[in-house]
Amino acid sequence: MVTISESEVLENKRVLDLLFSYMPKIAAERKMENLLVLMADMGRSIVMADRCSLWLIDEDRGELWTKVAHGVNELRIPIAAGFVGWSVKNGLPVLVDDAYLDPRFDRRSDGKTHYRTTSVMAVPLFDSQGKVMGVFQAINKQGEQKVFSRQDLERLTLTAVYSAKTVESARLTSEVEESKEELEATQEELIHVLGDISESRSHETGDHIQRVAEISYKLARYYGVSEEEAVRIRLATPMHDLGKVAIPDAILNKPGRLTEGEFEVMKSHALKGEELLLKSKRDLLRFAAVVAGSHHERWDGCGYPRGLEGDEIPLAGRICAVADVLDALASPRCYKAAWPEEKIREEFIKQRGTQFQPELVDALVEHWDDIFACLRQVRAEANTPRF
Ligand code: C2E
Ligand code: SIN
Ligand code: SIN
Ligand code: FE
Ligand code: FE
Repeated sequence: MVTISESEVLENKRVLDLLFSYMPKIAAERKMENLLVLMADMGRSIVMADRCSLWLIDEDRGELWTKVAHGVNELRIPIAAGFVGWSVKNGLPVLVDDAYLDPRFDRRSDGKTHYRTTSVMAVPLFDSQGKVMGVFQAINKQGEQKVFSRQDLERLTLTAVYSAKTVESARLTSEVEESKEELEATQEELIHVLGDISESRSHETGDHIQRVAEISYKLARYYGVSEEEAVRIRLATPMHDLGKVAIPDAILNKPGRLTEGEFEVMKSHALKGEELLLKSKRDLLRFAAVVAGSHHERWDGCGYPRGLEGDEIPLAGRICAVADVLDALASPRCYKAAWPEEKIREEFIKQRGTQFQPELVDALVEHWDDIFACLRQVRAEANTPRF
């Protein structure tokens, strides 16, 4: 029968308390560097060491790296150095009373820092495949004994098992998040490139595309669309006129009214844009195709290219139609001067329920000053040089 002394019971309780106090902090931390510091702190308290560090293997560089509290940079050592190197190489723990009596000790580590290493423990960390991924190291036992016990080694081993799982799951999470962020960044970049291409072809002044995107976002929010969907609309609307890249220059930039025949050609930009964007498999670009193909439909069914009516028209297209005309009227074009603000407002009220969905005109009129200010602000920003 195994008997446990009273001091051991107390000691186990102390270790458990420590574990429970660190676990929530560790679970809430997502940055790997901060995790290493937290777990090293926890290990140091559990085994009552003067110093403790959690080293991870960097395979590409053949090194071990760690981060210490208050340290600016990460620390790096060769993968085969000292006790930690031995532990990594052999997948075995180290328990040493006096480092200077052991040939595995790398004295350079003390030499550089004027620190005197005596007792040492090192325990390898294994990933879920059983491969060594790092090592937990504790230096200089505090208290009366001055050396680490077998129980300390067991406790550090347990801490290492827990730490290995934490590091592994933190790595998985950050990989997923990074690839998600990267994908979104790529999409946004593509959208702006496509938007710039269509804008540069049609010689429109200022950043029509950017203004239509911002106004569409605001209208969507005022209309009651969720934040997430409004952001999607803001990302998709910059491509509404992408199809203009297929319109001959003589028509696109004609400094006067278009003939009927020319306007028929001009109208093809809606379907052309839709067709170009549908070549993509990306959700966002396919959503932009819907906007391009529906931004000239009218609520009364007299628009183009399909003559859709009312809520047959995709909401994002209805919203983009309002934003597009608002900006077209407020801006000078090769064929017309900018309209005064009050005349624009009257035009929208006149077109309520004919060209535009009544509720969208209501939202626009109710928040007129804010939306019009947004139009001016984007224009001011667009007139300052960009790089
Ligand atoms: P845009 O200049 O960006 O105009 C977008 C939309 O704003 C127009 O779609 C129209 O609904 C509205 N809009 C623009 N200016 C006026 C206006 O003076 N009065 C009224 N009531 N609405 C206006 P729309 O008509 O389908 O035109 C599509 C695009 O075709 C225009 O984009 C522009 O690039 C071109 N376009 C239309 N008419 C002419 C024209 O007479 N001359 C030239 N050169 N281009 C034109
Ligand atoms: C929307 O999601 O706002 C409308 C788009 C669509 O109906 O395709
Ligand atoms: C634009 O406002 O640049 C063009 C709008 C359109 O094609 O209607
Ligand atoms: Fe258009
Ligand atoms: Fe437009």
